[in-house]
Amino acid sequence: MTQTDIPRPESGDVVELIIDDHRLFERLMHQVRDETQDRAGLRSMLSNILVAHAEAEEKYVYPGLVKTDAIEGEDAEHSEHEHHEINEALLGLLEVEDTASEDFGDAVEALTKALTHHLYEEEREILNPARTDVDTATKAELGEKFAAERSRLLDADCGSVDNVRTLVEAAKAEDD
Ligand SMILES: [Fe+2]
Ligand SMILES: [Fe+2]
Repeated sequence: MTQTDIPRPESGDVVELIIDDHRLFERLMHQVRDETQDRAGLRSMLSNILVAHAEAEEKYVYPGLVKTDAIEGEDAEHSEHEHHEINEALLGLLEVEDTASEDFGDAVEALTKALTHHLYEEEREILNPARTDVDTATKAELGEKFAAERSRLLDADCGSVDNVRTLVEAAKAEDD
């Protein structure tokens, strides 16, 4: 897989678009564990899509779901906090120079843990109520906004080490 293989949907049910990305993350995590793969290429792809996905969720999906009362504001905040933890683990991975090193494997493991936990919780606590409590037209509208923002961020190289570092520092300042 290469950067150009990242799907760029323009519309769809927001729950399905998010789930498709979650499955893509799992495939990429699986590949990046494989020492025979182009780990540096996979890592930058993973970084771009993880950041674009999470930022687009925070900007449009969570506020939209809070507005329709599908989720509470604190569910959104909790999820955003988990995105911060993922970004920290991601930064740790991006900062490893030698992709064949033990450190690289350890950083992949830390990211796997943070990400697996979040995907599980988001699917359970956020996407389930979105499935049942939000009408089809709203899910399509949120899907379109999510897809457009995700695409814009992918084009802006949002997963660069500099941008991920900026996001991690901003989140730390926010928590203080
Ligand atoms: Fe997600
Ligand atoms: Fe998320």
